[in-house]
Amino acid sequence: MHRGKGMKFVGDSRVPDHAKFVPAKDYSEYPGKTEAFLPNFLLKEWMVGAVFLIGFLVLTMADPSPLEKEADPAASGYIPLPDWYFLFLYQLLKYPYASGHYKLLGTVIIPGIAFLALIVAPWLDRGFERRPLKRPISTLIMLLSLVMIIYLTWESSMSHNWEQSKTQGEIVKQVSIDKNSAGYKLFAQNCSGCHGNNLDGGVGPALVGKNLAPAVVESMATKGGGQMPAGVFKGSQQQLKTLANFVSSVSKK
Ligand code: HEC
Repeated sequence: MHRGKGMKFVGDSRVPDHAKFVPAKDYSEYPGKTEAFLPNFLLKEWMVGAVFLIGFLVLTMADPSPLEKEADPAASGYIPLPDWYFLFLYQLLKYPYASGHYKLLGTVIIPGIAFLALIVAPWLDRGFERRPLKRPISTLIMLLSLVMIIYLTWESSMSHNWEQSKTQGEIVKQVSIDKNSAGYKLFAQNCSGCHGNNLDGGVGPALVGKNLAPAVVESMATKGGGQMPAGVFKGSQQQLKTLANFVSSVSKK
């Protein structure tokens, strides 16, 4: 027998030509196979629901959501990042032709055309052919979009500074800092741009709670280390000591 013989196209699904409407039998025709809604059925439903509820509870306790500190609109060092499934749109905005003067292109026009095309696709392509190879244009557009989305997502995750984003939203306990002290003034001049006005982190990590020895602070301020550049401190040797003692004492809080 031919494939699909006796079938008729109804929209996009194949339904046998001779299908007839068969009304469901009444429950009274299944003696002994029915059960009362209350309490039997409801109790079973409730028990299954409880299993899922407890499952979710265990999951949320085992792997809590990664909360960050309260959002601060003044924090210029914070690099926000969307969830992974939006990374391709985010990456698009990094290209000069889709940002700055052309941000309307990157935010509305390009994504708009793509999503609109998806919505109107059934009206644009009204052929009966379903095999991908027989629909080269649609297949090509689909493949191209897939490649673009995968490439942009990959680009975005490669160019993101994951090390830095680990520290940038760190929840740091609030400590009282004497902002009139000589040490704080030196900190504000040299360090707060990266380490935050309250030593609670920004581009650089939080220093509160790190228990830093003055010698470590001095060394970082002059020689740098890791992602921190050398020579950020501009001042005298005496001022360096004052700054180091100040940062060290706050870091022990
Ligand atoms: C350009 C940004 C920038 C400036 C300015 C800056 N830092 Fe840093 N700092 C960083 C980064 C980034 C790190 C993380 C280094 C790493 O581990 O890769 C860091 C790390 C440190 C650490 C080590 C923290 C730890 O957890 O071990 C200390 C201490 C420190 N900085 C002190 C200072 C002091 C003091 C100043 C001012 C003189 C200063 N920083 C200015 C970016 C900066």
